[in-house]
Amino acid sequence: MRILGIETSCDETALAIVEGKGERVRVARELVASQVKIHKKYGGVVPEVAARRHAEVMPWMLKKMLGRERARAFDVIAVTAGPGLITSLRVGVDTARSLAYAWGKPLVAVNHLAGHIAANFIDEITNTKYQIPNTKFQIPNSNRKSLSYKPFAISRARFPALALVVSGGHTELVLMRDHGVYELLGATRDDAAGEAFDKVGKLLGLGYPGGPAVAKRAEKGDPHAIPFPRPMIHSKDFDFSFSGLKTAVAQYLDVQHPVGHPDIADICASFQEAAVDVLVEKTIRAARRVKPKTILLAGGVAANKELRKRLGIEVARQLPTANCRPPPMKFTTDNAAMIAAAGYFMARKKQFADWRTLEPRANWEIGAE
Ligand code: KG4
Ligand code: ZN
Repeated sequence: MRILGIETSCDETALAIVEGKGERVRVARELVASQVKIHKKYGGVVPEVAARRHAEVMPWMLKKMLGRERARAFDVIAVTAGPGLITSLRVGVDTARSLAYAWGKPLVAVNHLAGHIAANFIDEITNTKYQIPNTKFQIPNSNRKSLSYKPFAISRARFPALALVVSGGHTELVLMRDHGVYELLGATRDDAAGEAFDKVGKLLGLGYPGGPAVAKRAEKGDPHAIPFPRPMIHSKDFDFSFSGLKTAVAQYLDVQHPVGHPDIADICASFQEAAVDVLVEKTIRAARRVKPKTILLAGGVAANKELRKRLGIEVARQLPTANCRPPPMKFTTDNAAMIAAAGYFMARKKQFADWRTLEPRANWEIGAE
């Protein structure tokens, strides 16, 4: 089955075609138009600007993605219907509805966080020439014959699975009993982990988005230099809180370094250490309760090398029977391949949406109808 995926929930306009067969999903084509440069000057995503940009580039991206193959190239259309910025979601959803009507294709409404989790089920492409394009209208070498794949560890799809979803807008622990069956165990009560990285990046003048920049600086710093707090690390629930950690960094800067911050690498490393400590500790605690066969990591912050490493080490040490492998780096941040992958597993179960009635939902909670 070939699935066209459409993603416009935030500031990336993305299209992909994936092929699903049995438990395996491969990316046939993929395209991402990032708006990072546009939003950089505002220090964050401006919703109105983002939606307008999605609408402007969508027809061109479809032309580029489908070429002469058009409707023959795929069987099902999968679109992110939420959560996200409502005006941005609207562009993807209405594009998908129009295509579904015009080409008579079944439509699947994908939850963005379910999409992030599904990135774990995509075969890794081992060909080093293949790179996710993050510049406008670039298509990677889409001649599939030239790509080599490493099948995702089948064990990643052993259920029940526990997923730590860490993105710019969400931090959640999700129990997955099967493809498409989700139960929310806990979530952040204030800022998301990615948001905390971004805000710390902003405080340190590292630009937008701050996450990758903070992680890079952290590589050269001492993670034990500054004892930042680990909010809610001992609470018995599976919720998170990151706004206090960000405030602690702000206060440290105010008190210690009202002018400039020479130990920027130490600040980044110590902040990252605190955030990773909480994320890993809470995931292990939830795993002890629900006894998953697999532990999955998903969302933009899953690109964080320290988090990938630490979660792997702690699971191996404390939960030796659980399988834990981080998702392919290429599919951690927003992309449409993950949406198409989630759409494949839904289409297999015939969980279709109606183009006449599908509406975007800005606050669609994973697992909710
Ligand atoms: O999943 P995503 O692409 O978008 C949302 O759905 O929100 O996640 C983007 C988030 C941003 O907050 C970004 O700073 C963060 O992921 N991020 C990172 C890293 N790479 C991206 N955070 C920490 N370390 C990284 N290496
Ligand atoms: Zn995302």
